[in-house]
Amino acid sequence: MTEAVTRYHVRPAGPLGGTVRAAGMTKNAGCKQLAAALLCPGVSTVRNLDPVADLDVMCELLRAIGARVVWETDDALSVDATGPLVPEAPYELVSRMRASINVLGPLLARHGRARVAMPGGDNIGSRNLDLHARGLQAMGVELDVVHGFIDAHVDALCGARIVLDFPSVGATETLMTAAVMAKGETVIDNAAREPEISDLAAFLGEMGAQVHGAGSHTITIEGVDELTPVDHAVIGDRIEGGTYLFAAVIAGGDVTVEGITVEQLGVAVDKLVDLGARVEPTLDGVRIVMDGRPRAIDVQTLPFPGFATDFMPFAVAALAVADGTGIVTENVFDNRLAFTAELNRMGAHVHTEGRHAVVRGTGRLSGAPVQALDVRAGAALVLAGLVAEGETVVHDARHIDRGYPDLAGKLVALGGDVTRTAG
Ligand code: EPU
Repeated sequence: MTEAVTRYHVRPAGPLGGTVRAAGMTKNAGCKQLAAALLCPGVSTVRNLDPVADLDVMCELLRAIGARVVWETDDALSVDATGPLVPEAPYELVSRMRASINVLGPLLARHGRARVAMPGGDNIGSRNLDLHARGLQAMGVELDVVHGFIDAHVDALCGARIVLDFPSVGATETLMTAAVMAKGETVIDNAAREPEISDLAAFLGEMGAQVHGAGSHTITIEGVDELTPVDHAVIGDRIEGGTYLFAAVIAGGDVTVEGITVEQLGVAVDKLVDLGARVEPTLDGVRIVMDGRPRAIDVQTLPFPGFATDFMPFAVAALAVADGTGIVTENVFDNRLAFTAELNRMGAHVHTEGRHAVVRGTGRLSGAPVQALDVRAGAALVLAGLVAEGETVVHDARHIDRGYPDLAGKLVALGGDVTRTAG
């Protein structure tokens, strides 16, 4: 099958205004909960999902494993994991999506065996799995990488005390799902604290798992003998929602994003304020008001509640049009700044050195053909296009489609001039 060639066409249209609703956090939370549905026989339902490309890959993967996956309503998928399951995740699917690794923990918990191809995903760095592997080994798993597959098996998972070198989101998720039916207590120290971890803990708790402390540095899981299917609505997508807040910083205006909270944005709220915006919570969301050019600031990415690495490309785009020079340091991924060369094609002045980018703001970007290298970098180019003279065409927009159900539609709802073409 040949994939449609998708592009975003963007033209400046003045300040943004109005209200949009953040989608459900489908890529970074919903897909993981669908994988966690493999933990027990029966039908689990995940709600508040939006049709992003990564969701299709997760559905295909779960079907390849032997689950029945059915749309219940427009936004709810049910997973019947009664089985029999084939504890194997094939390369063709795993190579398309990083979250495929999330079947590893549930398959080990349920079957004591998993063979999962090494994952792909975004082009943003080396993205090791050593923390997943070491934690699982501490729980008694024998694990090997053979011919590009992680081959893991265990007679009985045993609770363990695990200290992560780095609060990895993926490793925390793998270890949580492996631990819920392990014998005894598992303690994950230096755990990731992202809101999607708390949402996974809520999902697992509703299944009958004993998970405590999610959202803090230490998560404690008391293994139970059995889990039961759940019906769970996934949280709003703070990264998608945050994208529109940064859009307002770049284009100016008065924008409200419903379905997310100020707390879910962490330090990013302070940075939006430092950039010159007024940010306030509303009853069901976050409002941002921005007048004039952004002010130059320095930003460094860190695990939650630090400045999210997924917001970094938007910060670079904002600094590209800021009054002054800012420095951006990417601490989470080792190759996430490559997209700045695309921004420079639009007249930005970004100089990178390893994990650092010096961004000298200019009052004048010019629309150009550019390429989306990953989902957030692609979205950042669309945001830059909102204030670039003439037309910006973002090619390879399939990357954007992996995480955004309707980026063009929502920007248009806010008064932007953005169209997505496919074919
Ligand atoms: N790392 C290791 N060893 C491991 C695991 C991670 O060295 O075993 C390193 C990674 O190489 C990376 C860093 O730790 O340098 C952070 O990785 P983490 O495991 O926290 O991230 P992830 O689970 O691979 C998820 C999101 C990313 C988001 C990060 C950080 C999904 C599918 N992906 O990735 O989302 O940036 O957490 O919050 O949930 C995106 O949405 O654009 C995106 C890339």
